[in-house]
Amino acid sequence: MGAPSVLPRRILLGITGGIAAYKTPQLVRALVKAGAEVQVVLTPAAHEFVSPLVLSTLSRRPALTELVERGPGSMTWNDHVHLARWADLLLIAPATAETLAKMAHGLCDNLLMACWLSAECPVYAAPAMDLEMYRNPATRANLALLKERGVRFIGPEEGELASGLSGKGRMTEPDDLVSQLKQAMGEASVWAGKKVLITAGPTHEAIDPVRFIGNRSSGKMGFALALEAAARGALVELVAGPVALEAPHPAIRRTNVVSAAQMAIAAKERFGDCDVAILSAAVADWTPARKADSKLKKEQGMPPLELEPTEDILAWMGGRKKEGQFLVGFALETDNERVNAEGKLRRKNLDLIVLNSLNDPGAGFGHETNKVTLIDADKNAEELPLMSKTEVARAILDRIGIVLPHAK
Ligand code: CTP
Repeated sequence: MGAPSVLPRRILLGITGGIAAYKTPQLVRALVKAGAEVQVVLTPAAHEFVSPLVLSTLSRRPALTELVERGPGSMTWNDHVHLARWADLLLIAPATAETLAKMAHGLCDNLLMACWLSAECPVYAAPAMDLEMYRNPATRANLALLKERGVRFIGPEEGELASGLSGKGRMTEPDDLVSQLKQAMGEASVWAGKKVLITAGPTHEAIDPVRFIGNRSSGKMGFALALEAAARGALVELVAGPVALEAPHPAIRRTNVVSAAQMAIAAKERFGDCDVAILSAAVADWTPARKADSKLKKEQGMPPLELEPTEDILAWMGGRKKEGQFLVGFALETDNERVNAEGKLRRKNLDLIVLNSLNDPGAGFGHETNKVTLIDADKNAEELPLMSKTEVARAILDRIGIVLPHAK
């Protein structure tokens, strides 16, 4: 099922000071031709490479650069907050190494950076620079950080560079950039307005007021899923166990819980009207049958630790899933991974299971990366390479997005 090719209506186009800026009048034309309203914001350095007059003429709006415009006897304030709110999409093309560094570190010495810091809309960037600059660890780190924070990149492409060298660093050609942007936005649009329930992190099962039984889950995978779903336009209910993570997005409503029983109450309450539920939490399978009200003292001797099973939230949802609801579980396995995961998917009536193998280095609890296999109800298995948890989250949502109906 293909995603519709649509551009958002209002595009804030940030142009920074690289040689590829000479292609931006063509980019403005392509965006306008595709039906977008384009507001250009140039950095001061971009003026060396492209004429603001040409950009203003083609976009039919004054191209802006300064936070404060000074005319003879007048001063005008270009309100970055208003510009950022106006935009449905911020596209920075070309994005130079300098601008990427500023974005990664929140520096704000020009109107474009003030818009970027204020923007809550999706942000795309088309990097362009010489190959050594692109390969430099500082640039790599800035790109990785921005990716983690939800910025999407188009290009750069391989080819001849302005320096005369050949390699990766060319800005994607304007027409191609517009079609890649349309495709990416189309993929995102299936998530617009969808209600997504995500459980994340471990649970802590109290033995007494100071001791608990827990596990090593960091919650990073679930939080990456929540941020990615929100970035695609979904409304996310995040039920989080005790983790040291933030989910700073206005479309994420977070409920903090501690124990498996609390997680079950919160998640079950939110299941009824969700379109997609992704249960990535590492819920304790057992909890102490009795929790001491006061701290157990050593001198009383070793306490008998009787355990009782917790409720299986995922199985509960599998038993009540309605037509059109999509249910995703996680399986962390060490032996017979594929068979065990398929068994879990069948028993709990899931639509998709994300199999984590603890045998893969860099995968599972605590790591920044993960290596998973996605298995659907027809036993189709897609084995993904070792990727950052953000990239794994994108792959999981892309996979679910194939079967979700589009927003009306
Ligand atoms: N899960 C849940 N509620 C529980 C236990 C697990 O919702 N009480 C969910 C997890 O969020 C995950 C999946 O079920 O999506 C994991 O399945 P589970 O059978 O618990 O896996 P394991 O704990 O690894 O079980 P086993 O020991 O059988 O491998």
